[in-house]
Amino acid sequence: MTPTTPRVDAELVAALRADLIASRFTVAGVGEVLGPMAMAALDREQALPARRVAVSSTAPCATLVRLFTLGDPVDVAEAAAALPALGVDGAVSLGLVVPEGDAVVARCDLRPYASDDSTWWVASDLGEMATGRPLREDHVLGIGGASATLAGWTPRPHVERALDLGTGCGVQALHLGAHADEVVVTDLSQRALDYARFNVALDGARWDVRAGSMLAPVAGERFGLVVSNPPFVITPRSGEVPLFEYRDAGAAGDAVVRDLVRAVGDHLEPGGIAQFLGNWEVPRGATWTARVGSWLEGTGLDAWVVQREVQDPAQYAETWARDGGHHPGTTDFNTMYGAWLDDFAARDVESIGFGVVTLQRPRTGRTPFVDLMDVSWPVESPMGPRVLAGLEARTWLAEHDDDAVLDTAWGCAPDVHEERHTMPGAADPSVIVLRQGGGLRRHLSLSTVTAALVSVSDGGLTARSAAAAIAGLLDLDGDDVRGEVVAFLRDAVKDGLLR
Ligand SMILES: C[S@@+](CC[C@H](N)C(=O)[O-])C[C@H]1O[C@@H](n2cnc3c(N)ncnc32)[C@H](O)[C@@H]1O
Repeated sequence: MTPTTPRVDAELVAALRADLIASRFTVAGVGEVLGPMAMAALDREQALPARRVAVSSTAPCATLVRLFTLGDPVDVAEAAAALPALGVDGAVSLGLVVPEGDAVVARCDLRPYASDDSTWWVASDLGEMATGRPLREDHVLGIGGASATLAGWTPRPHVERALDLGTGCGVQALHLGAHADEVVVTDLSQRALDYARFNVALDGARWDVRAGSMLAPVAGERFGLVVSNPPFVITPRSGEVPLFEYRDAGAAGDAVVRDLVRAVGDHLEPGGIAQFLGNWEVPRGATWTARVGSWLEGTGLDAWVVQREVQDPAQYAETWARDGGHHPGTTDFNTMYGAWLDDFAARDVESIGFGVVTLQRPRTGRTPFVDLMDVSWPVESPMGPRVLAGLEARTWLAEHDDDAVLDTAWGCAPDVHEERHTMPGAADPSVIVLRQGGGLRRHLSLSTVTAALVSVSDGGLTARSAAAAIAGLLDLDGDDVRGEVVAFLRDAVKDGLLR
């Protein structure tokens, strides 16, 4: 039987909110009760350390962790003490718990969530850690690693209208509420939309909640920002892998992400931004940049795609067979594993890329910029402010010719350092690297010319004057030096190493 979703009753939801605040059921409060080891174990989906701490605590916050995070039965009296305003009857009425003898058990996961200046609560289906069972096909995800990745990478300018496509429990929309006047959320899953309605009520926000597939519910509408952690998981269509709605929209191969790249531009205001996560297939002998680049052709959109990870078909199959709660060695796991291998082999797929796609509708008729890059190492968190700065820098570079780049006095960003590597005994360095401390944490190899440029880039001298001085000093051709300087600056400026 499909588990029910919580229902919205304004009075009861307000009482629940009061109880959650009073019991300090916040990210900080739960952290204080459980301690760092149990919290870290929970992040790894290991409940035991948290269970041992929580059962030995009488704090209402610990009771709520046992009930809603660990999925343990909780004595009715303890639940009543942790929810004095709502009461156990109120919790039953909202569909949050169900009585079981002298205890109550949770019907959903409910946990605190926070960003820099906001605290929220998010209800979703109980996960495998709490139920001990594989996920259902109509499971509604809570806040996972991909949710956090997208929320961290999202640029957050103030916008009039923002869209969260495939909202699930609504985690991205909670963030959007901080910088969008109007938030529209969509999902194909009615169960997901039930959770979204409950969470927006609990968190005191207002969203326009719409049912439907992908962009259909917003046909003819435009937004300043579209975000999506879409159902991008590439899944064999042979029937051996169930259609897990929370991650799979039912298309073959990587068509969901391709179609979103191609269609989302129709829903962006001039200057509007779309950002989403995605997987793409790389057929044998091809490159990911060629594949994703071909999707962008004709869209008229600026594109900045950062590939973060590459898996071979076996790694991909293991990740997603395990994600549904199936364990290696079981018949179900092996059947799905084989189906994935067959599916990728049928299209001669050699690897699968994962990354963050950021698109922008240019405000003018200029040529769009396209930047497809690999960044496989840890980056600054959150990346969002850097993504916004990177879009602005790329836009400026797209709107200005090489003369404008040369006529600007660039300065090194404060988080940039130069490393010089010298062979023992040698007078001159053999390698000079410009290393960025934050953002994408890029490192650029410097030549004699660009090292000299960087050494005088303090915001006081135009690049043209610097290039002339360097050409004279090193006895080099002026055009060659200007060409090298411009190419370097375009690369360094787009990611904020110089500005
Ligand atoms: C990976 S979850 C993302 C949930 C949430 N936005 C987050 O960031 O954690 C993908 C969501 O897309 C929804 N979905 C699946 N197929 C869809 C479709 N065809 N159109 C719109 N949403 C769909 C799922 O129900 C699910 O809520």
